[in-house]
Amino acid sequence: MAEVSGAGKRSDVLITGALGAIGSYVLKRFISEGVRPLVYDIRKDLTLVKNVEDNFDFVEGDVTDEKMFGRAIEDKNITCIVHMSSALGKVCESEPKVGWHINVDGTLNVLENARKHGVKKVLYASSKASLGHLTGEFGHPTFKPVGEDHPFRPESFYGATKGASELLGRQYKREFGLEFAAFRFASTYGPGKMSRHGVASGISKIIEAGIFNRPLAIKSGGDQKNDYVYNGDLGKAIYLAYKASSKLSTAYNIGSGELHTLKDVAEIVRERHPAVDIDIGPGLVDVANAGELSYGLMDIARAKREIGYQPAFNLADGIADYEKTVASVGLDHSV
Ligand SMILES: NC(=O)c1ccc[n+]([C@@H]2O[C@H](COP(=O)([O-])OP(=O)(O)OC[C@H]3O[C@@H](n4cnc5c(N)ncnc54)[C@H](O)[C@@H]3O)[C@@H](O)[C@H]2O)c1
Repeated sequence: MAEVSGAGKRSDVLITGALGAIGSYVLKRFISEGVRPLVYDIRKDLTLVKNVEDNFDFVEGDVTDEKMFGRAIEDKNITCIVHMSSALGKVCESEPKVGWHINVDGTLNVLENARKHGVKKVLYASSKASLGHLTGEFGHPTFKPVGEDHPFRPESFYGATKGASELLGRQYKREFGLEFAAFRFASTYGPGKMSRHGVASGISKIIEAGIFNRPLAIKSGGDQKNDYVYNGDLGKAIYLAYKASSKLSTAYNIGSGELHTLKDVAEIVRERHPAVDIDIGPGLVDVANAGELSYGLMDIARAKREIGYQPAFNLADGIADYEKTVASVGLDHSV
């Protein structure tokens, strides 16, 4: 177990998967608030946290290794674990047992160690993939906002692992009084997804087509509305929940509060990069066959009311910050 220490006093929060696309935004938010987290990640790839490498402590380890994770938190006065590490759809759909092990056994290790070592709060990065496809009144054209009481009907292995992990967290809350809250993110965007995973949703492809001046044609689906939340807002939501002194609910939806299409994204990118050739075909997405992807508007009323969440990035601001971040960390994409 390699541990790297920089200057400053470590605080009481550990973040798993903090070097990932979303985790890095969570980490940067804590750091910007003067908190020095302990990061637990299987890979020491500091690309997305360039410029803040000295502001956190690091343990290289696997979340599926119960003992190693226990050693990372024992005697460190950790009171809050933010659990962001995960296998994403690509792994879960092609190797379901591997996905289950990393996501569900990994979450169980986090919860069990939290219980054993007196951790008070576990904040878990879930996904709307646990809900499955959003259809009927929740889909086009009505888009009734999806509340936290929406039933789990995952239609992917990935979604099943996220829902199962939430259920485990709820049980630890019920049985052992652990303060557990799951955060169901809307469709996220931000730097790192394409460079890390090679594939990405349409929104990242369009934004990066602008940044790297790459021609892009997406055949269809340009009129499909969706809730796109910028990773910066996810970092903010998790930090607010960490700071909250009142009891947390079991789940919070975190979204942008708005619906946009890929055509809207392309329009903003073209304004910023008039020379880039982006062609987005019309029509809706075949949502019933969209695998782990789902399209709808997440109701963020509870997050606003209980933790004071308010999205700070509208679509144009999110795209501008995405570009700024790519430049500041020197991300170079060949995808
Ligand atoms: N990317 C999305 O669109 C999206 C949407 C909703 C929810 N989420 C959830 O948000 C969380 C973060 O997603 P992301 O996009 O940042 O993913 P990511 O793949 O970019 O980052 C995951 C991080 O976890 C680490 N990790 C992976 N396996 C590990 C293991 N066994 N032990 C320790 N660390 C391990 C990786 O090294 C990486 O730094 C995940 O829980 C994911 O399910 C993601």
